[in-house]
Amino acid sequence: MAREHVIGRVGDLPEGHHRVVRAANRELGVFNIRGSFHALPNLCPHQRGPLCEGGVSGTIDYGPHTDWKLAWIWEGEVVTCPWHSLEFHIPTGQCVAFNDIRLRTYEVRVAEGELRVVI
Ligand code: FES
Repeated sequence: MAREHVIGRVGDLPEGHHRVVRAANRELGVFNIRGSFHALPNLCPHQRGPLCEGGVSGTIDYGPHTDWKLAWIWEGEVVTCPWHSLEFHIPTGQCVAFNDIRLRTYEVRVAEGELRVVI
């Protein structure tokens, strides 16, 4: 059964910032994207690199959603693995380069000034 685990105070993670925390014997990256909180495993599926220690920005992509033109998308929503630069869309866990790779995402709740991840 899933439980809430306190991972810090809301004020410790301003918009546009992220950090790595431990909860329920796991390392997670917690991200504040425009006031919305998200969490991913701090474990890259490529070679187990510390994914969430990477930088956050956007990415270049194209497809039906960009009218088949190269475009900068998801600004502030993409974390780049510091080892070999695989990119992941933080809110969904989707790997940008490989459609068949998607990370588990964890719900982050705000209550009584605390951030609580649900595991
Ligand atoms: S370990 Fe993350 S891209 Fe290689």
